[in-house]
Formats: sequence, structure tokens, C-alpha cells
Amino acid sequence: MVAYSSLVLLGASAAVANPLFPRQHTAASTVTVTAPLPSSTAWNAGAVNDYPIHASCNATQKAYIQKGLKETITISRQARDHILRWGNSSSIYQKYFGKAATGEPLGWFAKIADGNKAGTLFRCDNPDGNCAQTGWAGHWRGSNATGETVICDPSYELRRPLEGMCGHGWTVANGATNFYWAGDLLHRLLHMPAVGEGHVEHYSVGKYPGVLAMAKTNSSYSVKDSDTLQYFALEVYAHDVAVPGVGCVGTYTATSTPAAAATSSRAASSAASSAASSAASSAAASAASASATASRAAGAAPAVTSSRAAQSCTPHDDHWHCPPGVPQPTAPPA
Ligand SMILES: *[C@@H]1O[C@H](CO)[C@@H](O)[C@H](O)[C@H]1NC(C)=O
Ligand SMILES: *[C@@H]1O[C@H](CO)[C@@H](O)[C@H](O)[C@H]1NC(C)=O
Ligand SMILES: *[C@@H]1O[C@H](CO)[C@@H](O)[C@H](O)[C@H]1NC(C)=O
Ligand SMILES: *[C@@H]1O[C@H](CO)[C@@H](O)[C@H](O)[C@H]1NC(C)=O
Repeated sequence: MVAYSSLVLLGASAAVANPLFPRQHTAASTVTVTAPLPSSTAWNAGAVNDYPIHASCNATQKAYIQKGLKETITISRQARDHILRWGNSSSIYQKYFGKAATGEPLGWFAKIADGNKAGTLFRCDNPDGNCAQTGWAGHWRGSNATGETVICDPSYELRRPLEGMCGHGWTVANGATNFYWAGDLLHRLLHMPAVGEGHVEHYSVGKYPGVLAMAKTNSSYSVKDSDTLQYFALEVYAHDVAVPGVGCVGTYTATSTPAAAATSSRAASSAASSAASSAASSAAASAASASATASRAAGAAPAVTSSRAAQSCTPHDDHWHCPPGVPQPTAPPA
């Protein structure tokens, strides 16, 4: 509208400034002179405004993924707006980001909501064969294609829509961060270098309690911790939008909850993954899988050293995250 009015004004002043110009040509000359300007100088030429979905996704899969991404944008936008409104005075902000400055988390959420979406791709064709493994609902393609995520069929059954927020017995403290499409895809987006810039990573250990502990002692990492960003966005949406002023934080229960189970199995399989990745470098993938299973069963981690840890795969819900060049264990995380 603004651009249009200024074109009209430009045209008007051109006509006035050149009284010899035939009146009946004024409109045509205005269009001819001014129309190319906006496109040739468009500051955002070539912007990708929607997350690209690969042609391998059929109509059903595409509809699901698009809806999930829309919901991811919804919670990211709310997280951003919550920080913009309340800054570090928000108790939810302080809970997850401690004393850290607001700019960094604000930026990640703004990026996901309104940033250029080039360099990301969601596909459905299972190019790495990982979807065949029981329990895999999707995976980041890692070194095979850092900007790509594969969504496997179980996602369409497992991931809940945002309308279900605070339903199904889900709570922030005890529920899985990938229970809703929005939380799941937020995590998947943060892994893509075009979004997380290799800066957002898995730093906290131990899900909800791990995230809260990090905010107290190491908040400069909280603002770029993938799990923290997920929890914050979910809690803000639950509190601000789904059940206004109330939300569904819940009370963390250390035993007999899915979150607690995930925590302990994650700690165990983290050790196992180191064993698996070192084994995989010299042995067949199936041997690595067997070794991962064995060390997981034994619950011991003799092979793990701190230098090794940086080089190993990390289990995350139903899939592994491995550094470039490190082969994925073939068995999904326990
Ligand atoms: C799309 O693929 C899914 C399997 O992921 C299948 O169940 C569904 O029937 C397909 N839909 C269409 C419209 O082809
Ligand atoms: C919030 O930010 C202000 C300005 O930087 C700072 O003075 C204050 O200590 C911060 N409060 C908390 C709780 O982090
Ligand atoms: C990358 O591709 C290879 C070969 O297809 C496959 O074995 C490996 O598991 C893939 N990596 C990931 C992270 O899926
Ligand atoms: C903060 O977290 C990072 C990443 O986990 C870790 O490398 C660092 O040692 C931690 N710092 C403190 C003071 O705990």
C-alpha cells in the first residue's frame, strides 16, 4: 500500500514536472518508469518464505508436515513475543535461561518464525534407510545432508497437534519434548545449520532437570541449548496461549515417568554410543550395534573418555546425532 501510494505520487510529480508530456500517456508512463524499481531493488529478492518440502512427500505427508511446521512457527513466535514483552523479568525466562541476556534466544525464535527458510528440507523418501528401524520417527541426515531431515511414517501417528497442548496428560516437566509436532520439528529445525548455525546444540544432559540445572549454573549455554529452547517454547505456549495464565508445568517425578526413563536410558546409551562409534570405525555396522547393545546391557562405559565424548553420537529421543564423519549406530537409542 505504501509502495503503491508513493508510485502514484511519483507519477503525479513526473507529470507536473513535465507539462509537455501528453496527458493521456501519464498513466502508462508512470507504470513504465516506476514499475521496475521495486523488483530490481527488492532487498529480500529470492527469499524463501516457507520451509521447503521435498517432492518425495505425497499429499498426505506434505499436509501433515506443513501443519507441523506451521505449529512450530506458532510456538516459536509466541516464545519470541513473550521475551519481547517481558524480557528477563519473566519467571519462565529466568527458569530456563537464568541470568543470560535475552538477545540470543530471541534471535533463534525470530529466525524460525520469520527468517529466510532456504537451506532446509524435509523429505519422506527414506534415503538413508533409517526409517526401516523400529522406533524411528524421523532423523536428521547428518553428514549425508546437513540441511535435510527425513520424516518417517510413525511421525504421522505419534506427533500430536498443538490443539492437544496440556491434554493427553502431558506436562512440561514429565512429557516428552517431541510429543507435539511443534516441539519435535523445532528440535529438527535447530539441527539444520541454516537455522542453528552449528551453534545450537545438545549441551544439557538429563531432560527437564538437566535444563533447569544448566539455567542456574551455566546459562550462557542455556541460550543455545536445543532442549532448553524446546522446553521454553512449550511452556510459554502452554502458559500464554493454551491454558492462559495456568499452563501445565506439572511436577517433575524422578521415577516411573517417561521423562525419567528417557533420562536414565539416555545417560546409559550416551556411553553406549561412544562404544558404538569407536567400534563402527573398525567393524561392520552390525558389530557396532551389537557392541552398543552389549555395553548398554552391561551399563558400564569403560571405553568412554572425555576427548572421545566430543566425537561420539548422542541419542536424542528416537534417533542419534553424530558429528560429521562419525557413523550412526544402527540400533535406535534404547
Ligand atoms: C502417502 O504415503 C503414506 C505412507 O507414508 C500412505 O499411507 C498414504 O496413503 C499416501 N497418501 C497418498 C495420498 O498417496
Ligand atoms: C535483567 O536485565 C537487566 C539489564 O541487563 C539486569 O540489570 C538484571 O540483573 C537482569 N535480571 C535478571 C533476573 O537476570
Ligand atoms: C548416510 O548414508 C549412508 C549410506 O547410505 C548410510 O549408511 C548412513 O547411515 C547415512 N547416515 C545417516 C546419518 O543417516
Ligand atoms: C557449561 O556447559 C558446557 C557445555 O556442556 C560445558 O562445556 C562447560 O564446562 C559448562 N561450564 C560450567 C561452568 O559448568
